[in-house]
Amino acid sequence: MTNSQLKELLSDMSLSEKAEQLVQLHGRFFGNNDVITGQEMEFIVPEETALRTGSVLSYHGAGKIRELQDRIMSGQPHKIPAVFMTDIIHGYKTIFPAPIAQGASFNPELTKKLSEAAAKEAAAAGVHVTFSPMVDLSRDARWGRCYESTGEDPWLNARFAENAVWGYQGKDIKEKGRLAACVKHFAGYGAVLSGRDYNVTELSERTFMDDYLVPYKAAVEAGVKLVMTAFNTVDRIPCSINKKLMRDILRDGMCFNGVLISDYAAIAEAVSHGAAGDYAEAAEKAMLAGVDIDMVSQCYINNLVPLVENGIIPEELVDEAVMRILILKNELGLFENPYKDGSEEDEKTIILCDEHKKLSRDAANESIVLLKNDGLLPLKAKGKKIAVIGSLADSKKIIGAWSLFAEKSHIITLKSAFDELYPDAEITYVLSDNICEEAVSTAKNADTVIAVLGEDDSFTGESASRADITLPKGQTELFNALYEANENICTVLYGGRPLVITEIAEKSKAVVMAWFPGTCGNYSIADIIFGKVNPSGRLSMSFPYSAGQLPVSYGRFNTGRPKDDSVKHFVQFVSNYLDVPNLPLYHFGYGLSYTEYEYSKVTLDKDVLNRGGSITASVTVKNKGSMDGMEAVQLYIRDKSASVVRPLRELRGLEKVHLSAGEEKTVSFIITEEMLRFYDINMEYKSEDGGFTLWIGPDCMTDNSEEFILTAD
Ligand code: NOJ
Repeated sequence: MTNSQLKELLSDMSLSEKAEQLVQLHGRFFGNNDVITGQEMEFIVPEETALRTGSVLSYHGAGKIRELQDRIMSGQPHKIPAVFMTDIIHGYKTIFPAPIAQGASFNPELTKKLSEAAAKEAAAAGVHVTFSPMVDLSRDARWGRCYESTGEDPWLNARFAENAVWGYQGKDIKEKGRLAACVKHFAGYGAVLSGRDYNVTELSERTFMDDYLVPYKAAVEAGVKLVMTAFNTVDRIPCSINKKLMRDILRDGMCFNGVLISDYAAIAEAVSHGAAGDYAEAAEKAMLAGVDIDMVSQCYINNLVPLVENGIIPEELVDEAVMRILILKNELGLFENPYKDGSEEDEKTIILCDEHKKLSRDAANESIVLLKNDGLLPLKAKGKKIAVIGSLADSKKIIGAWSLFAEKSHIITLKSAFDELYPDAEITYVLSDNICEEAVSTAKNADTVIAVLGEDDSFTGESASRADITLPKGQTELFNALYEANENICTVLYGGRPLVITEIAEKSKAVVMAWFPGTCGNYSIADIIFGKVNPSGRLSMSFPYSAGQLPVSYGRFNTGRPKDDSVKHFVQFVSNYLDVPNLPLYHFGYGLSYTEYEYSKVTLDKDVLNRGGSITASVTVKNKGSMDGMEAVQLYIRDKSASVVRPLRELRGLEKVHLSAGEEKTVSFIITEEMLRFYDINMEYKSEDGGFTLWIGPDCMTDNSEEFILTAD
């Protein structure tokens, strides 16, 4: 349809018809109770009204969507198709490593490929919009939703955000196999106080703008079609009714002109927050803030028409919102083909195809992080007795809570991966987390123990925050009993968050962080343990030494009384703790491999950066070992003195390079003035002349540095 045809359509719609376009009903209104993604909303919509909804949440399957779409269109006065939206977070039925694991790949282009594959599967199943990417900056591992984010760093999250959008949407969302993406949760949800889900946030405006908004902005610039509001408050105003956030920052500041949808019942929650007296007031405030779609609450459906009729909301606001939805439907091609790519034939060939399964394995190869290795790994597959202990070793509950549509029968467990790939290995399994005679004696009789520990799917995700993020109940005791029996322990950890593993890591000879590795990701763990795959994952979120350090991030500030990082003990009257170090146990960017990379000293082609010009910073990286590998070469910058304090280091560049054994490559980064901008003392986004330090190395603690200055030319 042309724009003028869309306008004509809009002008022919009644007010109630328009209001219905702004409502999203859950699939359970249409009999789909198998996918529950939020609290039951107690309100009744007569079937006839329900069938005139503009969009449907959590409904999938080509046949089912076709049937419901037909019913909706036959009841809708202008035969306007509904748009079907659902959470395709890290895969539809083929599950890829969790977003936090994808972050650890330090390879944003990988996420583009995974998003592309996820879109193909979901599009074949009739879905039009995915509620992904989730880009909330996560610096508090207690928050269960850090599993859905790519981590703690604004710049890195921004790279993952844009690649996810490109992967889902391609050049044109009308194309076969594409979905419209929805970046979420706008904004600052990752900063919920105390890491407790749905809590409020308290961020300074500068931190919010400089750090938290960066990845959303990248998604908007990449052309994301939808934005979702967040459950939290920003500046004590619930995001879903926050006019400044939505109109001034998102629409005017970031120039976002797509569809803005509330999170699940988040408009109604303004009443619980105490920022609206009733649902009518909540609807009014959300509409004024520019929220186009009310996800599953009764605010819009019951109140928009009277609000307009009573002159409280101008009809033009409703028209603008409806127009944005009509434009999205048109861009998806739904007016010509309301089922888009939904096809039962394609579902059979695309979903869980070999190519996607291989992708899930390749992605896990890059996402798993080797945290410690005192020479124990890789193990020899023959001639040694191995004890594999722990229930997770044969569990399918290691794919993450948002794997809503996963086909369990296709999930490879670690045991099945070992059995299939390494049939000659002498492995004895004790698939229990209980300290039993069998576990202890099996450990005692083995040359090496693989303790398979950590969190299953139920420990992270929405509504899954923890105050104590050590190993789940009983596992520490099991580990200690195994350690008493045999000190040759490799600990394999699953989970959706950095855990506090300070003692476990100390006692283990090797630690492998597997995250939630996806449908075929356990093959990768087996291949890493036996040395077929050289680990290359890096932490995109720090592992705290103690939960008392949280929130923790490498992007910290020096303070007026800085502690020298090399000093281990407590120092009076400087910024440190009596009982734990300032630094996390494992820092951002950290991860080991089976080979050794040697970095040359950083070189700069010049040490003065003129505005409008550039500096080239380079290193040569050599693989000195005998195994091929991949190295994530990282660029960090510090602004040494500015009108406001600046972080000690900020990631500003990344290149993941493949290096065969003995090979060396030169990696260069171009430094420009734009990379040095921040919100200055007057809240202007600009750089300031002066001195900078730049580092290039394998992680955020590298001391391979050079100095340069920025001047006006
Ligand atoms: C609530 C979650 O916060 C959001 O991430 C998700 O997309 C919606 N529910 C829909 O399931």
